[in-house]
Amino acid sequence: MYSSSYYLFHICFLFIISSTCLAQTNFHPKAFFLAVKQDPSTLQYITEIQQRTPLVPVKLAVHVGGENVWVDCETGFKSSTYKPAHCNSRQCNLARSTSCGDCKTKNKTRPGCNNNACYNIVSNPAMNNTFYSGAEIAEDVLTIQSARGPVVTIPKFIFSCSPSFLTQKLGEDVKGMIGFGQQSPVSFVTQLASAFKFSRQFAICLSSSPQENGIIFIGHRPYLFAFGFDASQDLFYTPIIRASPEYYIQVSSIRVNAKTLQLNNTLLSLGGTRISTAVPYTELEPSIYRAVSKAFISEMPKNVKTVSPVAPFKTCFNSSFIGISPLGLGYNAPGIYFVLHNPNVFWTITGANSLLLVNQGVFCLAFVEGKKETGEAIVIGSYQMQNNLVEFDLARRRIGFTNSLFFRQTMCSDQFYTS
Ligand SMILES: *[C@@H]1O[C@H](CO)[C@@H](O)[C@H](O)[C@H]1NC(C)=O
Ligand SMILES: *[C@@H]1O[C@H](CO)[C@@H](O)[C@H](O)[C@H]1NC(C)=O
Ligand SMILES: *[C@@H]1O[C@H](CO)[C@@H](O)[C@H](O)[C@H]1NC(C)=O
Ligand SMILES: *[C@@H]1O[C@H](CO)[C@@H](O)[C@H](O)[C@H]1NC(C)=O
Repeated sequence: MYSSSYYLFHICFLFIISSTCLAQTNFHPKAFFLAVKQDPSTLQYITEIQQRTPLVPVKLAVHVGGENVWVDCETGFKSSTYKPAHCNSRQCNLARSTSCGDCKTKNKTRPGCNNNACYNIVSNPAMNNTFYSGAEIAEDVLTIQSARGPVVTIPKFIFSCSPSFLTQKLGEDVKGMIGFGQQSPVSFVTQLASAFKFSRQFAICLSSSPQENGIIFIGHRPYLFAFGFDASQDLFYTPIIRASPEYYIQVSSIRVNAKTLQLNNTLLSLGGTRISTAVPYTELEPSIYRAVSKAFISEMPKNVKTVSPVAPFKTCFNSSFIGISPLGLGYNAPGIYFVLHNPNVFWTITGANSLLLVNQGVFCLAFVEGKKETGEAIVIGSYQMQNNLVEFDLARRRIGFTNSLFFRQTMCSDQFYTS
C-alpha cells in the first residue's frame, strides 16, 4: 500500500526549519492549481512546475493519461537534492521499475545515470509513432501553489529522468510531460492526493488562446470563474469504463442536430472513447468520421459551400456565409452531441469547438480521421475540450463535463487563479 507519511514528515520538517512556514503548521491544503497554456507550434498544452534545489521553473506538457512525470535530465539538469531511487527500494516499486543496475553509458554519474538505480519506461504520445525510453526513477523537491493558501513544498516528489530526445514535438523549452493517469501511484494527481490526503481528482479547463492561461485544478472544488460562478454546479457525469492509465468513457451514439447517426455499435463499445490532451483534434475512426462529416455538411445552411480541404482536415467550408452565433457560442454550426452511457446524458459540441478557421476564407470541421489500426473508436482531443471544464474524479471512477462555458458567458481564462 502507498504510504504518504513519508511526505508528511518532510513537509513538517521543512515547516519547522523555515520560520515563514512555522505559522503554517496547521495548514492542510486540499486544492492546488497549475496554469496551463497552449504551445502555438505543437498545439500541446504546457504547464510549469518549480523543481530542484535551487528551484527552477520547468515546462511540461500535460498528458492526462500519463503514468508519471518525466523530465529531461540529460541536458542542463542541476540540483543538490536530486536522489536516484536505489534498486528494490519503495520508490522503484511505486514507479513500477522495469530494470535496475549501473549506468554504463558514460564513466561518470549524473542525474539520469547512476549506479544501483532503477528505471521505468516513459513515452511521448506527441511524437510520431509514440517513442519510448528507459528513464531513471528519482526524487527531488517540487513546489506547487495551493488554491487558497501559500506555495507548498513536496521534498521528495518521484519522477522519471529521461533522455533529451524524448522532448521532441512538445514545444520550445518544454522538458517533459506531467502525467495525470488514474492507476499509477506516481502520477501527479496521485502523489499530491497521497501527500495531502484528499480524494484523487482533478479538472482541466483549456484556454483557446495561446496568450491566455487556462487552469488545471487538483483536489477539491469549487472551480471559481468570473463573478463567482462555480463550474462544478454544471457538471454531468459518465463512468470511467476501463482499467487503464488512460481515461476511457462510453460514447454510445452521436447526433448532429436532430439526426442520430448510424454507427457501428460494436466499434463504439469495443473500441471505446479515450480522452487525450496529447491529441490536438478529436480523432474519429474512418467510418465514424465519414458519418459525422456527411451529416455536418448536410446540416450546414445551404449557402455554406464546401471547399478543397486543408490538411489535416478533410471537411472544409467557404467562410463567407458562416455566421457568428447570437448566443456568443462561436460560429454558427450544426450541434454535435456525443451521447454518453445513458441517452439523457450527452456532451454538446458547439461551433466554437467544431469549426476552426484554418486560413483566410476557409473553415474546417475540426475533427480528423483516425487510423483504423488503433481499434479506438474516438479519441477526444484538446480543441473540443477548450473552454469546457472536464473533471476527472478517480476516486468515484467518473468523468464530468460542463459543456461550453460560453453558455455561462465565461471561459477558461476567466478565473482569478492564473489570469
Ligand atoms: C573511468 O574514469 C577513471 C578516472 O578518470 C579511469 O581511471 C578509468 O579507467 C575510467 N574507466 C573507463 C571504463 O573508462
Ligand atoms: C510520421 O513520419 C512519417 C515519415 O517521416 C510521415 O510521413 C508521417 O506523416 C508522420 N506522421 C505524423 C502523424 O506526424
Ligand atoms: C464494426 O466494428 C467491428 C469492430 O471494429 C468490426 O469487426 C466489424 O466488421 C464492423 N462492422 C461493420 C458492419 O462494419
Ligand atoms: C468563397 O465564396 C466567395 C463568394 O462566393 C468567393 O469569392 C471566394 O472565392 C470563395 N472562397 C473560396 C476559398 O472558395
